[in-house]
Amino acid sequence: MKLVVANWKMNPGSAEEAMGIASRVEHGLLGINRSAIESVICPPSVFLPAVRLSLHFAALGAQNLSGAGAEQGAFTGEVSAKMLKEFGASYAIVGHSERRAMGENDALINQKIRNALKYKLVPILCVGFGAAKGAAAATVKRIVKTQLIRGLKGVKPNQGNLAVAYEPVWAIGTGQPATPGHAAAILEFVRAILPNARLLYGGSLNGKTAPGFAAQKAIDGGLVGGASLDAQEFLKIVKSFAS
Ligand code: PGA
Repeated sequence: MKLVVANWKMNPGSAEEAMGIASRVEHGLLGINRSAIESVICPPSVFLPAVRLSLHFAALGAQNLSGAGAEQGAFTGEVSAKMLKEFGASYAIVGHSERRAMGENDALINQKIRNALKYKLVPILCVGFGAAKGAAAATVKRIVKTQLIRGLKGVKPNQGNLAVAYEPVWAIGTGQPATPGHAAAILEFVRAILPNARLLYGGSLNGKTAPGFAAQKAIDGGLVGGASLDAQEFLKIVKSFAS
């Protein structure tokens, strides 16, 4: 099953707009062969209840979850896996580079993965943070492998319930995606470590760039930022991976 995930980040500006985008995506999904692809929308957590009402075919995901060692308690500002599950999330992005840049380390990410799996949220573990543009493939692989080993330390996810997104930081929001060949080479390397996880590419995917990635056997889907706020653009990406 292919997987295309909308990471709305801290957008849009209101719950009403969020419901509008979700409704347009749902409408478009009616016309897509949905047997081979799953679409996921990850809105800001406060919009989860509103967006949930608009979703039928697409699944709901969280952009983050608490790494606290308890499902409730004195953890100001945190939202637990249990709470996200109660509000309809079935996926959770973990370790996005924007969060790593805010100070999340692999140990915290590992705790988040554990919390997600405990509540049957499928983690979408993001890797690639720290690799410079133009870095040798061997360097990128070493960074990715370290993030996988540390992020998944002590957890044995049924790999069907795990997704890994390779997201080169320099490709995020820049309009300059990696080449499909580079992404495929890194994800083939990840496949050798995690044979059954779903492997995504993320970084400046849009309707134009997605088909090249979808054509790669090693790439099971995409993690889409900016383009996912435009329902038509997001649907084009879903279609690329569905065909
Ligand atoms: P982008 O973001 O599609 O806007 O490059 C991807 C991401 O950050 O997940």
